Amino acid sequence: MERIYGKPIITQADMHKRIRELGNRISEDYTGKALTLVGVLKGAFAFYADLARAIDLPLTVDFLVVSSYGAKAKTSGRVKIISDLTTDIKRRDVLLVEDIVDSGMTLSFLKKKLMARHPESLKVCALLDKPERRKAGVVLDYVGFSIPNKYVVGYGLDYQDKYRNLPYIAVLDKVSE
Ligand code: IMP
Ligand code: MG
Repeated sequence: MERIYGKPIITQADMHKRIRELGNRISEDYTGKALTLVGVLKGAFAFYADLARAIDLPLTVDFLVVSSYGAKAKTSGRVKIISDLTTDIKRRDVLLVEDIVDSGMTLSFLKKKLMARHPESLKVCALLDKPERRKAGVVLDYVGFSIPNKYVVGYGLDYQDKYRNLPYIAVLDKVSE
């Protein structure tokens, strides 16, 4: 069966406005700090690129590639780091940039891993939050949008590695497998 995505639930205009707001807040909060933005790939790539350019501060960029889901649209509960950071985050003020927080398992795993490297601080900025599905108790310091418990694609988020390049967020319908 073909996967069909519906109308945008978050448009490009909504997105750009919200990212400007987040960028302004982060710029205020991190003034004078040693900010490192850590993007969680692949899903965060689009949000990350826009957010980084909305922050008016010196910063360094780094990335992790993780895999938490199998091919299907539900969690396996397992998280694996496929590619690690390339820089030392010791004494850096790390802001972890995520596409979406669903059960919270990925984030709580990553926070533990990164805390063990002794950053000066560690906070989280997620584009999307699905609070209904939360299993692990994780604090989100900055959130773009809270959304209902629907599977969404676009703006970096995928279904079976597709739809990441949609320039808006849409609900994915008709996932039957
Ligand atoms: P968690 O560990 O359950 O919080 O899942 C987080 C990861 O699952 C995210 O970083 C996404 O890669 C993926 N994910 C969760 N919900 C969705 C969704 O609605 N669309 C696309 N990916 C999702
Ligand atoms: Mg992700």
